[in-house]
Amino acid sequence: MELLIRKMDMSDVPFVYEEEIKIFGKSLGEMTLYNEILHNKMSRYFIALVDKKRAAYVGSWLTIPNAEILNLFVLEEYRGQGIGKKLIDEVVKVCNKEKIDMLTLEVRVSNKYAIKMYEDIGFKVGIVRKKYYENKEDALLMILSLGGK
Ligand SMILES: CC(C)(COP(=O)(O)OP(=O)(O)OC[C@H]1O[C@@H](n2cnc3c(N)ncnc32)[C@H](O)[C@@H]1OP(=O)(O)O)[C@@H](O)C(=O)NCCC(=O)NCCS
Repeated sequence: MELLIRKMDMSDVPFVYEEEIKIFGKSLGEMTLYNEILHNKMSRYFIALVDKKRAAYVGSWLTIPNAEILNLFVLEEYRGQGIGKKLIDEVVKVCNKEKIDMLTLEVRVSNKYAIKMYEDIGFKVGIVRKKYYENKEDALLMILSLGGK
């Protein structure tokens, strides 16, 4: 398996949009994704390619001195192979370069695979955001302390 991680560009927008709909039942939307990539100076989006095929994506914002992961998915057929972790590592690298203090994200309390992956990386559960999602499910706010170094 050949894994390559690169910056997301405009050609990736339809892929991200369509897969977000399939996986989450909703998407940031194509216009927002284009805007994020073209105009938002604080956004950092990456695509993972497996054997040159798009397999995964992560979107993040550098809201200095902190940063947040907005969204992340790995296509089902590529899960459980460490690709999700590698995408987060890419964001962490950017954060370290920018001397970010804390990287945060929200995750559904039911999303066991994701929570385990974040804990393996070093994220700690911060607070519970009650009824954060449309179906009233709680979110865990998870925090990775980077120390701004
Ligand atoms: C959460 C998600 C991004 C993880 O990506 P991934 O590339 O499968 O993650 P990794 O392989 O790095 O690690 C996932 C962990 O899940 C577990 N896992 C094992 N088989 C799995 C499978 N078939 N599917 C998912 N996770 C699996 C593994 O235990 C692994 O931990 P390990 O390192 O101890 O083996 C992916 O499952 C996904 O896209 N889910 C749907 C969208 C989603 O929930 N996004 C996160 C929103 S906060």
